[in-house]
Amino acid sequence: MTMQTEEQEIIPVLTKGNNLTDYEEAYANFDWADVEKEFTWSRTGKVNIAYEALDRHVEEGRGDKTALIYTDAARNESYTFAQMKTLSDKFGHALRSLGIGKGDRIFVFMPRSPELYTAYIGAVKIGAIVGPLFEAFMEAAVKDRLLDSEAVAIVTTPALKDRIPVSELPALKHVIVVGENSEPGDREISYDDLMAKASDQLEIEWVGLEDGMQLHYTSGSTGKPKGVLHVHNAMIQHLHTAKTVLDLQPDDIYWCCADPGWVTGTVYGMWAPWLNGTTSLVRGGRFSANDSYQTLETYKVTVWYWAPTAFRLLMAAGDDLLKQFDLSSVRHILSVGEPLNPEVVRWGMKVFGKRIHDTWWMTETGAQVICNYPAMPIKPGSMGKPIPGVYAAIVDDQGNELPPNRMGNLAVRAPWPSMMRLIWNNPAKYDEYYRLKPWYISGDSAYKDEEGYFWFQGRVDDVINTSGERVGPFEVESKLVEHPAVAEAGVIGKPDPVRGEIIKAFIALRDGYEPSEELIKEIQQFVKKGLAAHAAPREIEFRDKLPKTRSGKIMRRVLKAWELGLPTGDLSTLED
Ligand code: PRX
Repeated sequence: MTMQTEEQEIIPVLTKGNNLTDYEEAYANFDWADVEKEFTWSRTGKVNIAYEALDRHVEEGRGDKTALIYTDAARNESYTFAQMKTLSDKFGHALRSLGIGKGDRIFVFMPRSPELYTAYIGAVKIGAIVGPLFEAFMEAAVKDRLLDSEAVAIVTTPALKDRIPVSELPALKHVIVVGENSEPGDREISYDDLMAKASDQLEIEWVGLEDGMQLHYTSGSTGKPKGVLHVHNAMIQHLHTAKTVLDLQPDDIYWCCADPGWVTGTVYGMWAPWLNGTTSLVRGGRFSANDSYQTLETYKVTVWYWAPTAFRLLMAAGDDLLKQFDLSSVRHILSVGEPLNPEVVRWGMKVFGKRIHDTWWMTETGAQVICNYPAMPIKPGSMGKPIPGVYAAIVDDQGNELPPNRMGNLAVRAPWPSMMRLIWNNPAKYDEYYRLKPWYISGDSAYKDEEGYFWFQGRVDDVINTSGERVGPFEVESKLVEHPAVAEAGVIGKPDPVRGEIIKAFIALRDGYEPSEELIKEIQQFVKKGLAAHAAPREIEFRDKLPKTRSGKIMRRVLKAWELGLPTGDLSTLED
């Protein structure tokens, strides 16, 4: 398919940015070795991303700088790099005292809080591999991930700990509970007790650049969630993009709104700013337009990284609300996770007088890949161009690179520093991404225009993107069919003006059950309680029968066509 090129809207460069004044020149002359020189390990040979993120700043005299500002309805705290170093040293020590060490998997399952970051970095300091779990996950989602990774410890809160099915997790030795815990259960141990006893003299675990660092579970269109492993080497790309894409300066107050349950929240909420020695602001609690503006004003945020759904919600809240705040501190705005509509970019220009810079990447890529830079004209609706040091292209199903304006597979040429190193326990899944070597096949479709700008078109598979959160239809379908009324279920993403997509389920009921509003609510609750609130279908439609292949696979493609009123296409593999 060839894309029509209309006359394109272009927003020129407003400020060049501090670290990349000319994109084409930077791209042509780029050398990863120059970024590597910025790390202490390039001189000492001693590697650990946590050391580079915290300890080195203390050792180089920047310990008094604020690393973390944490704010929510109940807490307003800030921590210097020196304090974060000490706290994470203590936690690392505590983990060691429990016999945990290099290569062990440890999870953090808690809402955003300073303790989450302390625990995360403390674990990385002793060479453990840390997996974050989004706080909305319910028992089934937690269990799948802990079982697959054979995690030995989990850090959680009293409110969430009951969702950890300890008795079904033989490898799990310790449940570390942060906060007042009235009735300690099996294998539980108090975070406060551990920290009180722990020494702050930690011998950091020096690792190899290729050693595991974090394990992010993410969804595909089939099967259980996949554990995407990232290694310490990823820090090279974290730092590079922190400087050139986020345009971070040491004095910035940077706010990345993503939760560390997702990759944006770990890489760009924690690693990228801290590797660069920049203050990272974390706001706990749920979204509110008022609180968002208040946070920007109160903390004089200068760099702001968020998602299209959130910008669309701010737009919907109206400009009168926005006008009540002084948002003049904001210098640079970025977006990630779903298509950034041109309307949102135009809104950003109107109300902030700033460009919103789209960035594209995935859990698997480990860091930003295609971006709009401060130093680059923006074409609203385009994701931008590949970062210097990485080559991206549009390829056909045989791996041939396609000429401009042809739609195809969005692919990235391996290797790049932050790419995933494996899928936990699943080499076959990993190989699927590299079936057209040397290309990494992203699963997104896109085209590239004559000037090298990439334009997102959609997913090639059935993965759903709701409010920037990636949901696998299979996981939702599997949960749905556990409900006694549900005989069959097929799940699709339905286009939605605010959330990008919402989850819609088509359900065939078992004999003896009748469709009703009550049943819809009950089934929604069932998924919310069993899997996660964001995975529950917002819409449910009952059908007598669902379209299936002869091998019994539900054809989501046909469901989607039903939903959109489109032709159903080739039905030759349909059951009947
Ligand atoms: O479909 C693309 C979409 O989000 C997917 C990756 O999701 P996840 O691994 O959860 O990572 C999200 C944040 C890094 C991609 O395959 N996506 C991500 N960024 C964009 C996007 N779609 C359109 N435009 C983007 N800028």
